[in-house]
Amino acid sequence: MKVFVTGHLGYIGVHLVELLKADGHTVTGCDLGLFEGCEWEPFVRPDTELRKDVLEVTAEDLAGHDCVMHLAAISNDPMGDLDPELTLGVNRDGSIRLAKLAKEAGVSRYLFSGSCSVYGKGDKLDLDESDPLNPLTAYARSKIETEAEVSKLADESFCPAYLRNATAYGFSPMLRIDLVVNNLLGSALSYGEIRIHSDGSPWRPLVHCRDIARAFVAFLNAPREVIFNKAINVGGNDENYQVRDVADVVQRLLPDASISYTGEVGADPRDYRVKFDLLNRLLPDFKLQYSVSSGMEELHSKYVEHGFGAADFEGDQFVRLRKLNQRMDLLRSSS
Ligand SMILES: NC(=O)c1ccc[n+]([C@@H]2O[C@H](COP(=O)([O-])OP(=O)(O)OC[C@H]3O[C@@H](n4cnc5c(N)ncnc54)[C@H](O)[C@@H]3O)[C@@H](O)[C@H]2O)c1
Repeated sequence: MKVFVTGHLGYIGVHLVELLKADGHTVTGCDLGLFEGCEWEPFVRPDTELRKDVLEVTAEDLAGHDCVMHLAAISNDPMGDLDPELTLGVNRDGSIRLAKLAKEAGVSRYLFSGSCSVYGKGDKLDLDESDPLNPLTAYARSKIETEAEVSKLADESFCPAYLRNATAYGFSPMLRIDLVVNNLLGSALSYGEIRIHSDGSPWRPLVHCRDIARAFVAFLNAPREVIFNKAINVGGNDENYQVRDVADVVQRLLPDASISYTGEVGADPRDYRVKFDLLNRLLPDFKLQYSVSSGMEELHSKYVEHGFGAADFEGDQFVRLRKLNQRMDLLRSSS
């Protein structure tokens, strides 16, 4: 099949291109290159590469593809809060525009990279797709409003689906350390200290970035009626963790590291535990390949291999927010 992947130079996107190519698909990648120069390891390139803002993609760019996988975004809550208007412009308006163009160009499937962030601070734990959404940030709002608008386009010719991904972690050639697992392991290696910014109690559903990419492939291969216009949580029921549990997994790998609580909890009230029964029911053959503990072991070996230390932890290369702060002008000028 011919697949159009946006955000193909990102943390998840580089895994996705590799998996699609390995399955024999022809891949077009489209990315603005916000994190150019941040690569940690070489990665597989798509067949065709567009260095382009998703807001400038045309129906001609999309024509002839069987599926659009839309990952390009200002990709987390704190980054979204840097400039909420820009976040809504790229993440929501850009995603809706892309879906309309895809439909117009005759692309039959549109897979949207959503997020479990839409659950925000739940009234109860164990939230599923039927529970009320509680967006706490512009990022989460952008994901919800995209789902709502794109769903209006669904018909016999156009099958959208929304992957509500858990928080990613783990090794990628385009590493990010602004994600809880990667961050706690990175701080333990760099300083011998696992620095938790809350009191350690908030719940998070976690999923390896490569498993998110594998889920996209599973959604590509799924019969259309199975996923048609559905929002589906992507992760595993056994992969919900309190932040302090993640710290314990780090400490099992690095027993000399101490745990410290900085208690800045007010800054990030997100707290949600999520159920993945719908995914298990609709795509029973899809199984996660990683748990936090196996993914962390893999990342730990990579950190050691690369000699990861304080300079990496404090630098710009692996922290999206720091890099984005430098690149905001690029985004603003193209939006
Ligand atoms: N990483 C996670 O924990 C996580 C969890 C749930 C959902 N998601 C979603 O998955 C997607 C990918 O996340 P990621 O972690 O790979 O993010 P990332 O920041 O590593 O990659 C995003 C990519 O999109 C590109 N991009 C941003 N704005 C663009 C624009 N206007 N036009 C073209 N390209 C643009 C960037 O250059 C970057 O390469 C995002 O939609 C994100 O919201 C991520």
